[in-house]
Amino acid sequence: MAEDEGNIEAKGDSTGTSAAISISEHLSAWAKSSLTGLFPEQAENLADVNVVPTGNPEFGDYQCNECMRLGKLLKRPPREIAQILKDKAQLPECAARIDIAGPGFVNIFLSDEWLAGYANDLPSDSRLGVPETGGGRTIVMDYGSPNMSKPLHIGHLRSPNIGSTLDRIFRFLGFRVLSDNHLGDWGTQFGITIMGYRHFGDQEAMKTAPMEELERVYVLSYERGKEDPAWIDQCRGELVKLQSGDEENTALWKQFMELSLQELDRIYGRLGVSFDLVRGESYYRDQLPGVVSELKEQKIIRESEGAQVAFFDDEKLPPAIVQKSDGGFNYAATDIATVLDRVNEFNPDSIVYLTDERQQLHFNQFFAICRKLGVEVEMKHVWFGLMRLPEGAFSTRDGNVIRLEALLDDAERRATEIVKNSSTEMSEEEHREVGRAVGIGAVKYADLSQNPETMVTFTWDRAMALDGNSGPYLQYAYARIASVHDKYVERFPDMDLEKFVILITEPIERTLIVKLMRFQEAVIRAADAYRPSVLCDYLYDLAQTYSTFYQNVPFLKAPEGIRESRVNLCGVVAAVLKKGLELLGIDTPPRI
Ligand code: ARG
Repeated sequence: MAEDEGNIEAKGDSTGTSAAISISEHLSAWAKSSLTGLFPEQAENLADVNVVPTGNPEFGDYQCNECMRLGKLLKRPPREIAQILKDKAQLPECAARIDIAGPGFVNIFLSDEWLAGYANDLPSDSRLGVPETGGGRTIVMDYGSPNMSKPLHIGHLRSPNIGSTLDRIFRFLGFRVLSDNHLGDWGTQFGITIMGYRHFGDQEAMKTAPMEELERVYVLSYERGKEDPAWIDQCRGELVKLQSGDEENTALWKQFMELSLQELDRIYGRLGVSFDLVRGESYYRDQLPGVVSELKEQKIIRESEGAQVAFFDDEKLPPAIVQKSDGGFNYAATDIATVLDRVNEFNPDSIVYLTDERQQLHFNQFFAICRKLGVEVEMKHVWFGLMRLPEGAFSTRDGNVIRLEALLDDAERRATEIVKNSSTEMSEEEHREVGRAVGIGAVKYADLSQNPETMVTFTWDRAMALDGNSGPYLQYAYARIASVHDKYVERFPDMDLEKFVILITEPIERTLIVKLMRFQEAVIRAADAYRPSVLCDYLYDLAQTYSTFYQNVPFLKAPEGIRESRVNLCGVVAAVLKKGLELLGIDTPPRI
């Protein structure tokens, strides 16, 4: 067994930076080298040994199920293998003991001493124990990306919200992330809007409420197309004119774009979402003819009823139109041009796209085309269900839109009311600022805390619940925990907290420190699964464990030493909550 494999340096080197691997990985390395040392002839089968966190503390803090697999291979009872591991392998330094459970599970119990040491190292670790697993690998993240010239409705929240959260999580894990807001600024809706604007546009309204007006003419034009096929052809014709550089349409396009971008900046600003790149579809317009020729040459597309179409006979996918019979380029064409450009310019390890569930077919087809083209970068479509209010669905086309901006206004207004009632000592300005943070946090968290692949029905009760899994609940929890420190300083102004270490004197303290240690796993799992909800669940669980701690042991009344240990432990819980909420893009006002 390699000598240092089992020694976990929880905080890495002495400079206070975290290790590059997680505790699970350290323990996996320990189990692997121990088992390989004991059963050298099985080395090949032990290439991938996993130690995972346990859900139930009765079964230790981590568990290893490899003895079950090894038992089968060796034709020996797994318990016997586990027993050999227990008797012969040197325990990892962090562990107090290992137990064998059931048919041959190995449960690892960390030592209290090591756990207390872990907690004591956290305050000086800006990463709070989270390893840098990214190793500088590059990810292009494509999110936000709304279709322009229409106002944003509440369905436009999830992509920038989930996308920017994953973006922060990956950056924190040490990936090099390039975020790109791939605006839909070159597609079908411009033909529809241009026709609508020409026939129904109201110049006055364009001055006073331009986005509403653009939406109005879009809806009228879209509705007209439903009854009148000639109208649809004209809309398509306007798009082709725009795409081939027609002066008048280009001027309209520029005007609509400018207005939409102003709205987008304002709303994304409120959501705290910004990008490294904002390259709309139009950025790639000159590359589209070349892409189509290349696809033709490689026989990936061929003509069918005048259009250029990709067929996927072997992949069981329906055909995808890349260029329409009128010469207009489709969504797929731009996405191919975009991927080639990104590979060329950034040489990423992966590209991640966030859109709603309705685009799954598009991405399957587009990824299939990329494979045929020999594009090697890993590509991932992260899709999410629609978001709606309980009243029913909404869509721009049907005209019953719930504007995202209105939702944010409402959230801030409601939260400000709550804060006004609960914190009468604050100034009006503070009420507004805290109300903003709580309102926006509530909306974001209501979305992030759901499994993305489900539909979210947004309700104020749930988003604002002060006693449930909500943004405001966690913000309150943070403020309350942070205030323990202030109360301590008030009572014991002459004590130097930093001189005291964190001790484990009660089981709940151990439980809480184990939860703090799970932060690294929550962040890594959220990234691996592309699910911010994993981190939300973790933070909610941490806040609840903290509550149990706070309610069950004395703080300021505890004897000196233990008192300081508990106040210091509160400090670490507050730091982890703050960091977790920061990764979710949620502010943590010190007082609420
Ligand atoms: N503009 C598209 C829409 O609003 C989403 C674009 C997603 N990104 C991409 N590269 N296709 O539906």
